[in-house]
Amino acid sequence: MAGDEEDRLTRRIVLDCDPGHDDAIAILVAAGSPEVDLVGIGTVAGNQTLDKTTRNALAVATLAGLDVPVHAGCARPILRSLTNAASIHGETGLDGPTPIEPDREVARGHAAHLIAEAVLARPGETTIVATGPLTNLALAARLEPAIVSATREVVVMGGAYGRGNVTPAAEFNIHVDPEAAAVVLGEPWPVTMIGLDVTHQALCSAATRRRIAGLGSTVGDFVAALLDYYAGTNRRRSGMPDPPVHDVCTIAYLAAPGLFETRPASVEVELHGTLSAGMTVVDFDHGPDAGSGSEHGSDLAPDSGSGALGPRRVATSIDSPGFWALVVEALARL
Ligand code: BDR
Ligand code: CA
Repeated sequence: MAGDEEDRLTRRIVLDCDPGHDDAIAILVAAGSPEVDLVGIGTVAGNQTLDKTTRNALAVATLAGLDVPVHAGCARPILRSLTNAASIHGETGLDGPTPIEPDREVARGHAAHLIAEAVLARPGETTIVATGPLTNLALAARLEPAIVSATREVVVMGGAYGRGNVTPAAEFNIHVDPEAAAVVLGEPWPVTMIGLDVTHQALCSAATRRRIAGLGSTVGDFVAALLDYYAGTNRRRSGMPDPPVHDVCTIAYLAAPGLFETRPASVEVELHGTLSAGMTVVDFDHGPDAGSGSEHGSDLAPDSGSGALGPRRVATSIDSPGFWALVVEALARL
């Protein structure tokens, strides 16, 4: 493949996350996917406090031998106090495996600056992937409004058009900081939402966990230990026999968009409902581009049509066996 063509197909991404078991695996899968060029990691409070999610990101970057800066961001949501997910991810945020000692320091500068600088360094080329609460991303949009038109695509793991996982209406990442999500969804950049509707279609079976353990590598052992712990907490908390590794879906979507079906829709966040705060209200009938039908994969250029808010797509299905093949192959490269 010619160099230019290769550049076009490789997704330059900045990942904002709150590791977290599935965030950690998302970092590793990004590191092992040649289709993705991870240029920076931001951390945010979510699954655990900011100091813990940052330490975890540094540890996972160490494990992957990733040469990318890790910048800490917001320690709490914009308006609300932090509610974490210790019941799923444990006291460290990455309970299960033997902890890894980071071999690097956190980079100087706020994660919101990292996001803005990464986007503005290569206008139109950088995709922002968010797998935690959207606090840093909302701040980045306010700090440097120019990033909105310069971002290739925002890919969010968050929300649901069906049932939530913190309340019947709300998914965790949006529930933690709904105001930040409203800021992000209020800007005219292209946004793709990968919510629980799809992440719950890609559950990690015991057979898959054995395949990962069988890789016979340090990374494989670490991920297998993560998944064992995470399968246990998910089973106890939600009764799911196999756990959904939500955040990993964002990376797979960028590495192999054909594994996903997405549909145009409008997405808004409920901020005030007593029972529904943090709900993503998805309207497939009246969204930007409504009527253009479903599509496999996506490449939402900022000028690809739509109304004032820019294109919105919501993932509706995933090829689960294809997804797991991609994940195992990526981990095997590390
Ligand atoms: C999301 O919540 C977190 O616990 C996970 O890391 C994922 O980002 C799923 O609702
Ligand atoms: Ca997460």
